[in-house]
Amino acid sequence: MSDESRQYRTAAVIPAAGRGVRLGPGAPKALRALNGTPMLIHAVRAMAASRAVSLVVVVAPPDGAPEVKRLLDTYALPERTDYLVVPGGGTRQESVRLGLDALPEDIGIVLVHDAARPLVPVETVDAVVQAVRDGAPAVVPALPLADTVKEIEPAAQGEPEPVVFTPERARLRAVQTPQGFDRDTLMRAHDTVAVAGEGATDDAGMVEQLGEPVVVVPGHEEAFKVTRPLDLVLAEAVLARRRANDGF
Ligand code: C5P
Repeated sequence: MSDESRQYRTAAVIPAAGRGVRLGPGAPKALRALNGTPMLIHAVRAMAASRAVSLVVVVAPPDGAPEVKRLLDTYALPERTDYLVVPGGGTRQESVRLGLDALPEDIGIVLVHDAARPLVPVETVDAVVQAVRDGAPAVVPALPLADTVKEIEPAAQGEPEPVVFTPERARLRAVQTPQGFDRDTLMRAHDTVAVAGEGATDDAGMVEQLGEPVVVVPGHEEAFKVTRPLDLVLAEAVLARRRANDGF
């Protein structure tokens, strides 16, 4: 394989090992159904929909890799794409790292996509890949905020929280996935940046800590993260709208 084709060969790593406690009791979040199909399968299809993506690596719950493998065998997926399943870790950051460790040598561009964002349109995936191909070491899709955001000082349970700062809303963006990276840059970030506590929730933030530039491309309202019960209602409404539009 030429250096140029390695440079552009793209894999998507999908961390899907979270429990999803904010969604309420039940199966791990990625395995919950949206219109009868597990959220993870929607997310895998969203990545494989991009012709740029030649491999999808799913990071399963630590004890759930066989079940996830069975799931990928059960649902129809594009044949031009390869699929791998690896067991995940205790934090999202560890899960992403385990996914990166499974990448074959010939991959030059890596997307990291939350299983919890099952409905990201292919246009967004392609825009992220293109920006990395154009030379950005790290790319995040993001949207302007509807709400004003305030930084607060955490207070004791039940006490009012004092506001310490109000950033200018027009300069803020809500970050989505897939985030796209030059593979070597992302590996360097995972090798050198230590994040305390729950670990990094955002891979691009680790690249920022390396001092490398991170750029934003337009996100999409359908790339929202399914976190709370109401998000499931919205996701099913989006799928119903797509089906209705496909009918015309
Ligand atoms: O919990 P949150 O919604 O922030 O999780 C974001 C993504 O990271 C989800 O797709 C989740 O499955 C994944 N994750 C993981 N391993 C963990 C925790 C979260 O793969 N230990």
